[in-house]
Amino acid sequence: MKHLIDPTDLTVEETNNIISLAEEIIANPEYFTARMAGKKLATLFYEPSTRTRLSFTSAMMELGGNVLGFSDPKSSSVSKGETVEDTVRVVGCFADIIAMRHFVEGAPYVASKVSPVPVINAGDGSHSHPTQTLTDLLTIKREIGRLDNLTVGFCGDLRFGRTVHSLIKALSRYHNNKVILIAPDELRLPDYIIQDVCVKNGVDYREVSTMEEVMPELDILYMTRVQKERFLDEDEFDRVKDSFILNLEKLATAKEKMAILHPLPRVNEIMKEVDADPRAAYFRQVANGKFVRMALLSRLIDWKDRPEHTMPEHPDYFVDRTMHCTNLKCISNVEGADPLFHRLDDGTVRCSYCESKIRR
Ligand code: NCD
Repeated sequence: MKHLIDPTDLTVEETNNIISLAEEIIANPEYFTARMAGKKLATLFYEPSTRTRLSFTSAMMELGGNVLGFSDPKSSSVSKGETVEDTVRVVGCFADIIAMRHFVEGAPYVASKVSPVPVINAGDGSHSHPTQTLTDLLTIKREIGRLDNLTVGFCGDLRFGRTVHSLIKALSRYHNNKVILIAPDELRLPDYIIQDVCVKNGVDYREVSTMEEVMPELDILYMTRVQKERFLDEDEFDRVKDSFILNLEKLATAKEKMAILHPLPRVNEIMKEVDADPRAAYFRQVANGKFVRMALLSRLIDWKDRPEHTMPEHPDYFVDRTMHCTNLKCISNVEGADPLFHRLDDGTVRCSYCESKIRR
């Protein structure tokens, strides 16, 4: 069985397969209207969402399937103290596939360990958001025509923006993609993405402090919202909240064929005047999200009993109860999941739920 917890749970081949199926669905939606007839998707959303939850719901409906679940955990047994593991064991009796969003990092991974049906991570804390990544890849493919040899500028909250973390992981697996990181010091990309993804895979990356200085080079400008809800210190948020604002003047030096992406919701980081520019792809990106989720749901259900589509093995993961993850938002600290770690080639130990660096 294949779950989607991290973008690298899918091989590059499987990722391309899902993107191609999404393109087929866009070209001939009428062929797919009964594809999921009799099947049920459970959407378990422990954290607010508009696009992700509704696009999963709409995707399942367009495939002829049904949807159940909750968007407010207060209305479920979670409010009685039920763990993620137990909730998923129960929901797995009612649904053929589960999409889970959780504010606790690593929660969907723990769910996948006990679930009898495929689990999709619809966003876990500031860690990962692999279905937004599939949406972004499909959008890049449709806007620019390729997934390799790209220069991609990521701008805004690279520290807490889970969509950025997942997309950089995915882009690092295609040939010759360059990454330019545009963020204030407080919102820099976490070290684990720089070291374990960019450096390890030889991705050409650099950090700059303005979008103007790199605008002419970019094929993609990936804008993000400063993630207010993830800050522990309100003053820190106030200091950085208006760091980068894209307007038409700043776009003047951009390539004619550049595409501007944003996972949305936007706050003030893209001025409304940009919306009418042909390079503004963020609303087309939302529409792509539904098609790619249709493709993903179909494939994960088709692949469920196919031995060639199984989860990657992690023989290097180990439980060590003498150590603990220092990230208070990690499932190992919130629900007491077994402390699980892996060691990188350079000797660094990471928590296997949230990828935080572990100090003994
Ligand atoms: C993003 C998310 O939830 O991480 N939104 C989305 O899923 N499209 C981005 C955000 O909340 O800023």
